[in-house]
Amino acid sequence: MRKLLVAGNWKLNGSIAMTADLISEIIEGLPNEKNFDVAIFPPFVYLPLANTSVGNAIKYGGQTVSEHESGAYTGEISAAMLKELGCQMVLVGHSERRSYYKESSANIAKKFQAALKHGLTPVLCCGETLEQRESGVTEKVVADQINAVIELVGIEGFANAVIAYEPVWAIGTGKTASSEQAQEVHAFIRSLLSLKSDTIAHLVPILYGGSVKGSNAKELFSMQDIDGGLIGGASLTSEDFLAICQQADVLSS
Ligand code: PGA
Repeated sequence: MRKLLVAGNWKLNGSIAMTADLISEIIEGLPNEKNFDVAIFPPFVYLPLANTSVGNAIKYGGQTVSEHESGAYTGEISAAMLKELGCQMVLVGHSERRSYYKESSANIAKKFQAALKHGLTPVLCCGETLEQRESGVTEKVVADQINAVIELVGIEGFANAVIAYEPVWAIGTGKTASSEQAQEVHAFIRSLLSLKSDTIAHLVPILYGGSVKGSNAKELFSMQDIDGGLIGGASLTSEDFLAICQQADVLSS
């Protein structure tokens, strides 16, 4: 059985004080015994604070990672550096990285590979724009994004990975994909993986991301192929984030 994962992508938000407060409020608000996983992705500079304050209740990681090991790459952070800070996971290929920073699927595949090499679980984000959805190419877009990674690391690379399906039109817009719309793409992603390995296809957690809130989490997470959420806006206050965790708890107990 795949465990639900509720993951908070803080993006470019926070401060030292907010990180400390949010982490302690989340820890306090989570059930003592839980059957689902929680992860946070704060900005890089707050990872040392996460390292000393999250304990075992929460996993954490970076929002991106360099495809390089070391060298003259100003501003980059390597997978080894994240690992040294105790990160267990890392986001790769978020649509904001793809569109604002021109990360290609080939770059993203290399980041995924770098993460695996250093024992980090990559969370591969994929998803279509509104224009792509309206022109009927959602499955092709998502398949291309995932196949670029399979080509580099093989299907085995997904044995320790997470996929996050995030339709670009639903990110930060308040527009959520309906649970049926999301389920349809999640099932497609699983079928795509099962062309290479049924076992791995059934193992990989596939998160949904895009305006997930306490009020829609239960409906989304109860779909057969939706294994939790990657949460942006609603991960920035403990109240909103814990409301989503609470739904995951109900579904997991
Ligand atoms: P959102 O962001 O929850 O604010 O829509 C999700 C994401 O970008 O990961």
